[in-house]
Amino acid sequence: MKHFINLKDIPAKELKKIILDAKKRKNLRKKLNTLEVDKGSPLKGKLLIQMFEKSSLRTRLSFYLAIKQLGGGTITLRSNELHLGQGGESIADTAKILSTYGDGFVLRTDSDKKVDKFKNYLSIPVINGLSPSSHPTQVLSDVFTVEEIKKKPISKLNICWIGDSNNVLGSLIAASVKFSFKLNIGCPKKFEPSIKIINWVKKNNKKIFIFNNAIEAAKDADVIFSDKVVSINDKVNKKKKIEQFKKFKIDKKLMSYAKKDCIFLHCLPRGPEVTEEVFLGKKSHVWLQALNRVHVQKSILLYCFGKLR
Ligand code: CP
Ligand code: NVA
Repeated sequence: MKHFINLKDIPAKELKKIILDAKKRKNLRKKLNTLEVDKGSPLKGKLLIQMFEKSSLRTRLSFYLAIKQLGGGTITLRSNELHLGQGGESIADTAKILSTYGDGFVLRTDSDKKVDKFKNYLSIPVINGLSPSSHPTQVLSDVFTVEEIKKKPISKLNICWIGDSNNVLGSLIAASVKFSFKLNIGCPKKFEPSIKIINWVKKNNKKIFIFNNAIEAAKDADVIFSDKVVSINDKVNKKKKIEQFKKFKIDKKLMSYAKKDCIFLHCLPRGPEVTEEVFLGKKSHVWLQALNRVHVQKSILLYCFGKLR
């Protein structure tokens, strides 16, 4: 049984295997309809339980399609409807019941500690569907999307992140170490990644550069990533934070400092960090990026269930 909680804790070899499997599976089902099951029905009879303590559109739907296309089924729980969410049952007992009824568990929560606690009590795999520090399924899928569009390994590309030091960036930093790609981060000084993350990167001797100037960060980029400046449940003065990121807005001018064929990616939902012109423009591949989560999460599920070929 393998969990999928943080990219930094998963061997690079396994992450690459997941991407390769997703590529093969995506190719093989070109002619299949949305709910048709992959040949061999590899997760036939398996139940994936999903629990969201925060809002989600893409993650819940893409996991729904992922498990269905592998022959299994899913149910989504709202934490506030459980005894756990009302303070009436422990994580230990909840985890025992989830492990009794289900075969895998996707959790989106505001607490990294909660993911770890569930991991300790579950006897089924847990997948982090977004936590304060990490959004691993999103970022692994984004690596897949970059390689699909650019038709080369991500290690040969200059990746740029313009935005907040949030969960998605946390996972992108981990991915840059695992997949060995250069990562420029553009953000205001006050919103740089934590010392803990920077020290981890230094220890792993990888190619990450921080700029407090968006143009410097974007120069020569093959891919520019962004995400909402204000994340879900981000306890900040929203207006003030958006103002602090004003010089980091992704517009056509900023894109012009990157390579000519630079693409734009954004995990969605979006906010004022990107102009409509860029978001809906030719360089943007955000819809394919969202779709690819289905394909990559299928291979993540197979990895967790020990069925990755
Ligand atoms: N990108 C992403 O995780 O979207 P949701 O919050 O809608 O799941
Ligand atoms: N960083 C964002 C990602 C949403 C998918 C958030 O945590 O709200």
